[in-house]
Amino acid sequence: MGKIVVTGGAGYIGSHFADLAARKGNEVVIVDDLRLGHIQAVGDLPLAKGDVGDPEFLDGLFGANKIDAVIHFAAYSQVAESMQNPAKYYQNNVCGGLELLKAMDRHGVEKLVFSSTCAVYGEPDALPITENNAMNPINPYGASKLCFERMAMDLSRSSNLRPVFLRYFNAAGADPEGKLGEDHNPETHLIPLVLRTALGLREAVMIFGDDYPTEDGSCVRDYIHVTDLAHAHLKALEYLDAGGAPDAFNMGGGQGCSVLQVVEAARRVTGVAINARKAPRRSGDPSTLISSSKKAMDILGWRPEFDNIERIIETAWNWMKANPEGYRA
Ligand code: UFG
Repeated sequence: MGKIVVTGGAGYIGSHFADLAARKGNEVVIVDDLRLGHIQAVGDLPLAKGDVGDPEFLDGLFGANKIDAVIHFAAYSQVAESMQNPAKYYQNNVCGGLELLKAMDRHGVEKLVFSSTCAVYGEPDALPITENNAMNPINPYGASKLCFERMAMDLSRSSNLRPVFLRYFNAAGADPEGKLGEDHNPETHLIPLVLRTALGLREAVMIFGDDYPTEDGSCVRDYIHVTDLAHAHLKALEYLDAGGAPDAFNMGGGQGCSVLQVVEAARRVTGVAINARKAPRRSGDPSTLISSSKKAMDILGWRPEFDNIERIIETAWNWMKANPEGYRA
């Protein structure tokens, strides 16, 4: 067996996967330019520091190592930023991604697992969202991820490339053993912001919108634990090893949780009366996103283990209490 290249392996989800894959006996090489990733999250795994959009760097890496598969996490991933600076998203996620696909083709690497997103669906035409829902992204971030999927599908028809697209819903939580966690700068995600408020690092958490067509008026999301996502990537690799064809799978827990319910759950987990304040809607936010992950369960044999929001928040809370300044400390 060759090595597994993990692009974005110093980032949030990529680091959890790289750690798990290495612990399961795989030979892992992390590719990260450390613009957003954290060297501390790499631990003692081998790191090739460079940009997935750089063909010379990729030729060096693929030429010097026998690579069996690429797990492609590296991307910009903030919806709001993508609305303000779409070119940045297309440049990195699409143009950079294309360089990676071309390098894989040049070096005969066939297996690819790609971090896609529920944002490819946009405002869903039916709930829960299955892989057959219409794909109409409503922000450039989602559009850039859909573009990559399309490019990879097209290349799979003209070459030996076999991509699997894992469309994550809301990744959350941290390594239950406390080694890895979530540290974005700036932080925009709900759960870390709620927990930073509980720690006293923020005065209040903002509730973006209270007039959505949901039960309590706040947005509903499907939170999925980062370790469950990491396991799904190993399942996707097994599927490709067994000769599996290109395909896409939703990755969620199948349960909706509103912003207000997340805040309530965090109050229970932390024992802190977290301050929450109403704020206007954030542009680019769909009202409700809930996954049907039946296809991943049936075909990949994947089962998420963290099945309630409090357990997910608890792992994030443990990491944050130990690392209030994230990896910077
Ligand atoms: N929210 C708040 N206050 C905050 C931060 C977030 O109310 O301070 C709300 C958002 O409006 C949203 C929910 O909490 O309704 C979750 O927001 P996050 O920013 O944590 O996550 P998103 O749902 O925006 O983003 C996630 C992934 C993206 C993916 C997107 C699909 O991080 O990669 O889902 O819409 F594209």
